[in-house]
Amino acid sequence: MNTLNIPKTLVLDKPIDAHVHLRDGAILAGTANATARQFGAAIIMPNLKPPITTVAQALVYHNAIMAVLPQNFATLFKPYMCLYLTEHTTADEVQRVADNFTDTGQVIGFKLYPAGATTNSDAGVRDLLAHCDTALNAMQRLNIPLLVHGEVTDPNVDLFDREAVFIDRVMLPLRAAYPALKVVFEHITTLQAAHYVRDAPANEPIAASITPQHLLYNRNAIFTGGLRPHYYCLPVLKREAHRLELLKAATSANPRFFLGTDTAPHAKHLKESACGCAGCYTSFHALELYATAFESVGALNQLNAFASQHASDFYGIPKPTGTVTLQRQNWTIPDTVEVAGTAIVPLAAGDTLAWKMV
Ligand code: NCD
Ligand code: ZN
Repeated sequence: MNTLNIPKTLVLDKPIDAHVHLRDGAILAGTANATARQFGAAIIMPNLKPPITTVAQALVYHNAIMAVLPQNFATLFKPYMCLYLTEHTTADEVQRVADNFTDTGQVIGFKLYPAGATTNSDAGVRDLLAHCDTALNAMQRLNIPLLVHGEVTDPNVDLFDREAVFIDRVMLPLRAAYPALKVVFEHITTLQAAHYVRDAPANEPIAASITPQHLLYNRNAIFTGGLRPHYYCLPVLKREAHRLELLKAATSANPRFFLGTDTAPHAKHLKESACGCAGCYTSFHALELYATAFESVGALNQLNAFASQHASDFYGIPKPTGTVTLQRQNWTIPDTVEVAGTAIVPLAAGDTLAWKMV
């Protein structure tokens, strides 16, 4: 690419991170501040232990997040909570989400974790179509979105095929049964998912979030010269052909695709382990990673809409006010960041990036 055409600074509208794991306890202050430094709003995942399954619990978590932000962030950063869908979610709980969203906009939707698919998903859903009709009907009627971890958990399905198989086994019947249900296919990783979302009929409310790691890396990154646990997340990185289609989708100006980091901090020692946890920590340098990916295909001009406008339009939430500025400046991602005394390894630790947030 002709470096002469690359701007020296990049001013973006304050973006929205549509998929964030902030965790709770001691590290919450660090994770929440890292996200609030880069983003004006974020959708907060509910897979705590125990999971956040009610509006009442979500509001306690919401207040805990606000309490760890300094006053000036608290007015500039808005967390949107989502509830963990279970096979026992009631229509009343869906109604409470709808009421809260209308009144204060603190709770935004439900997250589907297929039981066993990922970190803290044991309390998740075993059979969505058979066991969640009451909740899904209420969500469709009240226009409450379902955020979907789109992987089957069938041990007979190859790990790398679980997202593509999920489309056939769950997405297609789900959207046929609830055609007006608002669905976000979270952290898509395959060309099948990118095409499925892109090609859905224009009047159907479906969108997808895309992480920086799936735009920047293919599955080789997990195995370069040895086993690299900090590139392991779920859904797992796929082949290069998939990465290229995700980049195409993210930079296509299609409003169905938006930014969602899936930043998922785990302590260094829990990833560098005989059975390491899944998740990449990116809150610390998310925008720089996305800028690197967009620049790689000459599409920096598409980053702004992908990072704020598309999620704001899909969810019907205000676009955050203000801007963030990235400067063309080389810097090296640190080997670890300390969060409340816990060492966490950021994605691409030790690599040099050409963009830095100022
Ligand atoms: C997430 C986590 O650690 O909470 N991990 C991940 O690899 N993405 C859960 C998830 O989003 O699947
Ligand atoms: Zn996630």
